[in-house]
Amino acid sequence: MSDRREFLKYLAASPLLFGMPQLVEALGNATTDQAVEQVLKSAADALNVFDLEAAARKVVPPAHWGYMATGSDGETTLRANHDAYSRYQLRVRRFVDVSRIDMSMSMFGQSFSSPIILCPVGSQRGFHAEGELAVARAAASRKQLQILSTQSSTPIEDVAKARGAGLWYQLYTSNNFENTAKMVKRAEAAGCPVVAVTVDLPGGRNTETDKRLAREDTRTCAACHGPNGANGPKPMFAGLDMKGFTLTSGTLTWDFIKRLKDVTSMKVMIKGLESGEDAALAVSSGADGIIVSNHGGRATETGRATIECLPEVVQAVGGRLPIIIDGGIRRGTDAFKALALGATAVGIGRPYIWGLGAFGQAGVERTLQILDTELRLAMVGCGTTSLKAITSKAIIDTRRV
Ligand SMILES: Cc1cc2nc3c(=O)[nH]c(=O)nc-3n(C[C@H](O)[C@H](O)[C@H](O)COP(=O)(O)O)c2cc1C
Repeated sequence: MSDRREFLKYLAASPLLFGMPQLVEALGNATTDQAVEQVLKSAADALNVFDLEAAARKVVPPAHWGYMATGSDGETTLRANHDAYSRYQLRVRRFVDVSRIDMSMSMFGQSFSSPIILCPVGSQRGFHAEGELAVARAAASRKQLQILSTQSSTPIEDVAKARGAGLWYQLYTSNNFENTAKMVKRAEAAGCPVVAVTVDLPGGRNTETDKRLAREDTRTCAACHGPNGANGPKPMFAGLDMKGFTLTSGTLTWDFIKRLKDVTSMKVMIKGLESGEDAALAVSSGADGIIVSNHGGRATETGRATIECLPEVVQAVGGRLPIIIDGGIRRGTDAFKALALGATAVGIGRPYIWGLGAFGQAGVERTLQILDTELRLAMVGCGTTSLKAITSKAIIDTRRV
């Protein structure tokens, strides 16, 4: 292996290949572990989640990278999601006994070691051969919440087994309620206590980075995915009537939540709300919780970060339901700010996919460990020894000063 590495180094420096970096990169990508090693020796070497991003970039195929990285249209919302956290600053407090920091979080009677959760991301075997199973094992070892996508590339029963207990299921509404009900029943039978119904894609989206990078990928989709290509049926669709089936529907209204609750005993979270009015309607429709999300800047190109939507949702809910927020959380300090603004828990998507792509289970664990450590440091610095103690007094909104 080291001979090969030396050879690649020689090639990279060779005047013969000067000006042909793609060729050198393609050769380097031929062996996964070598390519990652060019960036990090192991998951433990990552100092922040961006180190894992750089390592994953080396080994994830361009088309799959594009699917992960893409936002909608010009990606203003995608960028805003993270950038908006800089609007808030932390207010430190001193001489508080911070020798014990309690980061535990509970929801619906389930307890977790941290408020940082793994949001649903489709097709995880496109990033690492062990896909959702690696993520489930990482979630289990760190006692953190994982939500499995309808677009999972691994059957839910296998993922639930790898997680141990308490996996949540994310539901796309589909245009066929019988199919929807079947997926929900299947998730229930697999032991999921909660279903998160995603409502932010009622009519498609324009994902340019995805399309652009797919064009750059020289491999043939069918070679790995089979005759249906990358959009072929996923394990969750086994046994469903696929005639005319679409994953989302533009005809649904608030009575869908009641219909859903009538066919399941699972708690129902609504994922993809961004306004106070909708949050109030979620409460009156009988939802059990809300995920403030814009699908990681992959749905409507609003230009509005989720952290800017959170206050109006928190105000409308008035403490009646738990609220999760996701989008752009890349540091423990981002998580701290969201908790200070009233979130019960915070979700991540891409950061754990970077860890997965680079190192499988160990990479997902490292992502969670990094963010948890950063959050703990923020809690220590601000003298907030439990999640409850993180209130709006712990941050400053620089736009309001
Ligand atoms: C590659 C990818 C696939 C996703 N697939 C789903 C999905 O199947 N269902 C869903 O509700 N959200 C999906 N999401 C959105 C995430 O659940 C989450 O809202 C978002 O990634 C959070 O933003 P972040 O990536 O900036 O952390 C996906 C996101 C990414 C990046």
